Amino acid sequence: MKRISIAIDGLSASGKSTLAQGLAKALNYLYIDTGAMYRAVTLFALREKLIDHDGSLDEPAMREALSRVYLTFRFNPGSGRSEICLNSRNVEKEIRSHEVSRHVSVIAKMPEVRDKLVLAQRRMGEVGGVVMDGRDIGTVVLPDAEVKFYMTASIEARGQRRHAELVRRGRTVPLEEVVANLQERDRIDSTREHSPLMQAEDAIVIDNSDLSIEQQFDHMMACVQQVLDA
Ligand code: DC
Repeated sequence: MKRISIAIDGLSASGKSTLAQGLAKALNYLYIDTGAMYRAVTLFALREKLIDHDGSLDEPAMREALSRVYLTFRFNPGSGRSEICLNSRNVEKEIRSHEVSRHVSVIAKMPEVRDKLVLAQRRMGEVGGVVMDGRDIGTVVLPDAEVKFYMTASIEARGQRRHAELVRRGRTVPLEEVVANLQERDRIDSTREHSPLMQAEDAIVIDNSDLSIEQQFDHMMACVQQVLDA
């Protein structure tokens, strides 16, 4: 059986990672959450105090500090997924905070950050047998991926999902604030100069506002199977 690359791009909180993880598990492929990598760099910048109270980033200092950022994924048998480590420390929980979400776009916009992370992502993806999710996977990181999905959902559906996820983790952020953060990230991610969020021409679009996870999974798996059988 050939081992292909699957690229999943889409808006924030469009359910990419849930489906990407599900597909990876079913196919016995490696799952790579590239958003986690941008989040980990953001956590690093916050810890190093490179991001001001007003949200502005000290870009020269960030550029210089980048060589001290070392990212790896480690499989956690407990959660059944690969978790991100920043300089050998597991930071999977910390990177999901609202604080990191609030500042990640300013980090993801820096060309030097993107160059470093894209290089690492290509290395992980070039062997095949991967499901990678992000914003620029089908367009920039793995333009030759055999299957590409572009996931989208209404802002209401995405806001509810992200809010529920934060509540599950014991955080009380008002729904309006979560929605405002998603809208702001959509705007920055889609309009930035370097590798903006874009739908690849050959991507299969999935609007999951009214689809269950099972419905999405079945549809996506059928698309993958078609390619594997070809
Ligand atoms: O998927 P996520 O919400 O965890 O991603 C966090 C941020 O990282 C998102 O606002 C945009 C950025 N990102 C990116 O620019 N390129 C990627 N391939 C993945 C994420």
